[in-house]
Amino acid sequence: MLENTGFTGYMIDLKNEKEIAQMRVAGKLASEVLEMIGEYVNVGITTHELDTICHNYITREQNAIPAPLNYHGFPKSICTSVNHQVCHGIPSKNKTLKSGDIINIDVTVIKNGFHGDTSKMFLVGKPSILAERLCKITRECMMMAIESVKPGLHVGTIGAIIQRHAENNNFSVVREYCGHGIGRNFHESPQILHYGVEGTGIKLEEGMTFTIEPMINAGKPATKILNDGWTVVTQDRSLSAQWEHTLLVTKNGSEVLTKRTEENEY
Ligand code: MF3
Ligand code: CO
Ligand code: CO
Repeated sequence: MLENTGFTGYMIDLKNEKEIAQMRVAGKLASEVLEMIGEYVNVGITTHELDTICHNYITREQNAIPAPLNYHGFPKSICTSVNHQVCHGIPSKNKTLKSGDIINIDVTVIKNGFHGDTSKMFLVGKPSILAERLCKITRECMMMAIESVKPGLHVGTIGAIIQRHAENNNFSVVREYCGHGIGRNFHESPQILHYGVEGTGIKLEEGMTFTIEPMINAGKPATKILNDGWTVVTQDRSLSAQWEHTLLVTKNGSEVLTKRTEENEY
């Protein structure tokens, strides 16, 4: 998640065919980390252990680089955000997963200089009805936004679609962080806000690559950062969920560069 600075869409790097091929490789690798880690996300594991498994897989099996590690000083290779943690959770030996937890694992890999960025929610043991519904609606927000993407679409429409579905379900959209252009840089233009007004903002063009990564809260939208300087939590300690994909804008729509094999319905 990029910090929402209010600036949108100047100097957007459109990817050529060669760069797109590289983005496909990076996106696929990021998706494969999420596929790999699923079987380990169980009651009793620590988020530190999840980080170690992902780090070793990315560096040894994929010969790739975990982008979060040392990014602006981030100390670990993945982000793990549990329950009321919104994003940028730091994997820790003190965070042991328990039944009922929901956890977002956010993976970004660099391969041959290009980034792939994706995250998903995992339900640990037996989650509450609310937790399950929050995760499901948040994924729907992302998917509805993805399905709208095509050249000529205003970025504000992406935000409006997400905001409408979240608020129709009595949830709220986090404002302080947003999706982002991605490529040779982890975070580049444009900013993709997850709330907004239809028909406003810049228009999408073929060859743009960016993420959609809505953070949706069960309570109020406000967040704060913990003393560790990274972990973003809901101010009211309500549950928060997030899903993320990296997309390419194509001639007629979009291609999901981080699609997992389990996601064959689109
Ligand atoms: N992966 C996050 C995103 O979706 C960014 C994490 S930055 C880090 O943009 F430093 F916290 F790793
Ligand atoms: Co991102
Ligand atoms: Co991410």
